[in-house]
Amino acid sequence: MSRLKNKVAVITGGNSGIGFGIAQEFENEGAKGVIVGRNQETLASSVAQLGDNFIAINADVTNLADLERVFKQTSEKFGKIDVIVANAGGGAVGTVATIDEAGYDKTMDLNLKSVYFTVQKGLPYMNDGGSIILIGSNAAHRAYPSFTLYGAAKAAVIYFAKGFSSDLLDRKIRVNVITPGTTDTPAFEKFVPAEQIEAVKQHYASVMPTGRIGQPSDIGKTAVFLASDDSSFMLGAELLVDGGMTYLAK
Ligand SMILES: NC(=O)c1ccc[n+]([C@@H]2O[C@H](COP(=O)([O-])OP(=O)(O)OC[C@H]3O[C@@H](n4cnc5c(N)ncnc54)[C@H](OP(=O)(O)O)[C@@H]3O)[C@@H](O)[C@H]2O)c1
Repeated sequence: MSRLKNKVAVITGGNSGIGFGIAQEFENEGAKGVIVGRNQETLASSVAQLGDNFIAINADVTNLADLERVFKQTSEKFGKIDVIVANAGGGAVGTVATIDEAGYDKTMDLNLKSVYFTVQKGLPYMNDGGSIILIGSNAAHRAYPSFTLYGAAKAAVIYFAKGFSSDLLDRKIRVNVITPGTTDTPAFEKFVPAEQIEAVKQHYASVMPTGRIGQPSDIGKTAVFLASDDSSFMLGAELLVDGGMTYLAK
């Protein structure tokens, strides 16, 4: 398949979970480009699996100088960029009674500020007519316990798809957002003790209308659609890729 033949893509958080799933599906469809993350070990192992059409850049998406470097290096290596996936992010567990100012800034920097500046810093290096894909979360739609701040950041990311699309009409750059539900990624390891991970995944699967949680490839295949010309009539849209979790969960 070659729906993304010769398209140049930058995928933040492409060295793990959903981002790596997106990079794999992009590679399957003929794309080339860059994965971005901070963990040198997973950057190296991921890019080795992706093959010669991808390189890895070690950068922190909350650091604006790092973002400038990512897009400059990408365009020096591959030319102008066709697709940006602002995927890097992560949950912060806590309530309005417990997350302090430092926690607030950390969560908002990673899940909101990084998305804004990934797009802003990428724009000068992007082709007109390109596609930008943001990653939301079903936590933006339901008040899951202790995901208050993360859910609020992701709700704003979902808004960004509309606002950015409006801002970029003159360049015909389309911005859409994929909203995953619970997806099988290493993110579980950050919140759940190792010995409980399987049980927690099984619990989520049992309440899902589809009887399973999502796989990174589910999100990756949707991202291929949004990156390709098949979605040329879509901008500012949110695609809920959650196995029915948000509106139909038991
Ligand atoms: N898994 C789910 O159930 C789920 C559900 C809804 C939405 N999401 C969203 O999907 C996206 C991917 O999550 P995931 O589940 O795939 O998590 P993951 O496996 O933990 O991956 C997170 C990725 O983000 C990167 N990252 C984190 N902080 C970064 C920083 N400051 N600079 C650069 N890269 C950074 C990580 O790379 P390094 O560690 O190398 O920096 C990693 O590649 C996130 O936006 C998340 O909120 C996930």
